[in-house]
Amino acid sequence: MNSTKHTSKDLVKSPVAPSRDRDSMTGGGTKMPRLLAIANQKGGVGKTTTAVNLATALAAVGKRVLLIDLDPQGNATTGLGVKRSDIRKSAYDLLFDEAVDAAQLAVSTKVPGLFVIPSSMHLAGAEIELVTAKRREYKLREALRRPLPYDYIITDCPPSLSLVTLNALVAVDAIVVPLQCEFYALEGLSHLVKTIEKVRQHFNPKLDIHGVLLTMFDPRNRLSTAVADDVREFFGEKVYQTVIPRNVRLSEAPSYGLPAIVYDMKCPGAQAYIHLAAEIIKREKKINEAAMLSQQGAVAMLEAG
Ligand SMILES: Nc1ncnc2c1ncn2[C@@H]1O[C@H](COP(=O)(O)OP(=O)(O)OP(=O)(O)O)[C@@H](O)[C@H]1O
Ligand SMILES: [Mg+2]
Repeated sequence: MNSTKHTSKDLVKSPVAPSRDRDSMTGGGTKMPRLLAIANQKGGVGKTTTAVNLATALAAVGKRVLLIDLDPQGNATTGLGVKRSDIRKSAYDLLFDEAVDAAQLAVSTKVPGLFVIPSSMHLAGAEIELVTAKRREYKLREALRRPLPYDYIITDCPPSLSLVTLNALVAVDAIVVPLQCEFYALEGLSHLVKTIEKVRQHFNPKLDIHGVLLTMFDPRNRLSTAVADDVREFFGEKVYQTVIPRNVRLSEAPSYGLPAIVYDMKCPGAQAYIHLAAEIIKREKKINEAAMLSQQGAVAMLEAG
């Protein structure tokens, strides 16, 4: 195995402590961002690894990206090099403080164009506070469904179908579902699919599964291949062509506070996430074209009628 670290200078800013980002605070060039949640209530399937590296890969191709860490474990926060001791405000404030704007909570990371709203221990209590809160399912939606200076907002969800996760599903346009290529991969998935269906019916009719992502794939393990085949049979074209291989570099990177794409850009895991970002951008173009066509169709119908 290649043990050289390929730290891309292009991708990394000088390693300063994350600070509030001026651009995002002034809100130059605000637009309606595209909102994606990385969700699966099953633990340890690669949600955070996907959130961090997908966000980095999108930033690397010039998109302005905000990652929101909704998990009290805070793995996306520390994986991006934000120290717990530096955190003043967090995703908790995004949920509960109507006076704050997402861009004000965002802190810059070592990756140019990538910002994070960190997690904090307060998020652990958010679940209980939400139970009695007014419009409790819409807290995140109300904070994010407005013009903001980002192309993409990606939320890393906790491993549960809690009220915090529900807030993410109500807020976003689409979900990316990471699935670990192992025996129990499909277990619990029907529960997630039913939840998505309920969210569509009651809160967010446009919610879509953006794609299903096969993670920790090991081609030498026949079970991995069998699971990948099963998932493709079940979800068809929703499964991304890109498969994330099992790669130790992906698990090492967070301990350096770096996305794997920065830690070792040439490792197979980082390369896979770069391919995933390209595939997602391609899907996005198709989705936009389809939306435009249906809008044109509606206009033509109105004009004709
Ligand atoms: N493709 C991979 N190859 C090797 N290790 C991986 C890979 N993807 C993730 N890991 C490691 O597996 C563990 C779980 O990954 P991760 O934290 O991304 O999952 P998660 O779904 O966010 O977990 P949780 O449900 O606890 O939030 C981590 O130690 C991570 O570094
Ligand atoms: Mg996680």
